[in-house]
Amino acid sequence: MKTYTKQQLALRNGQDKPEIWVAYKGLIYDVSASRLWKNGKHYEHWAGQDLTDELIDAPHTSEVFKKFQPIGLLKN
Ligand code: HEM
Repeated sequence: MKTYTKQQLALRNGQDKPEIWVAYKGLIYDVSASRLWKNGKHYEHWAGQDLTDELIDAPHTSEVFKKFQPIGLLKN
């Protein structure tokens, strides 16, 4: 899998590039197809970032990522 930097991820925020990406536990997911991530916004959260520490605020678990195939790794 390809590795991306935080800067590269940040461009996939739903505003600067057509792709909408979210990182969770070191993996990057493409959520562009999700109606729930339109324009990069998901409730109070923005795509283009590592949202691992924010999952605690969600009414759901990480099970929501199961339907998405990771498209890359986030560089430390
Ligand atoms: C205020 C916080 C949040 C709220 C209210 C919220 C709400 C929801 C709801 C209602 C759904 C669809 C139903 C479900 O699967 O349970 C959903 C799906 C999802 N959420 Fe969240 N969420 C929040 C935070 C987050 C965070 C921080 C992440 C990332 C770490 C995240 C990632 C996702 C993903 C990937 C989906 C699946 C989208 C799809 O299936 O199209 N959510 N969320």
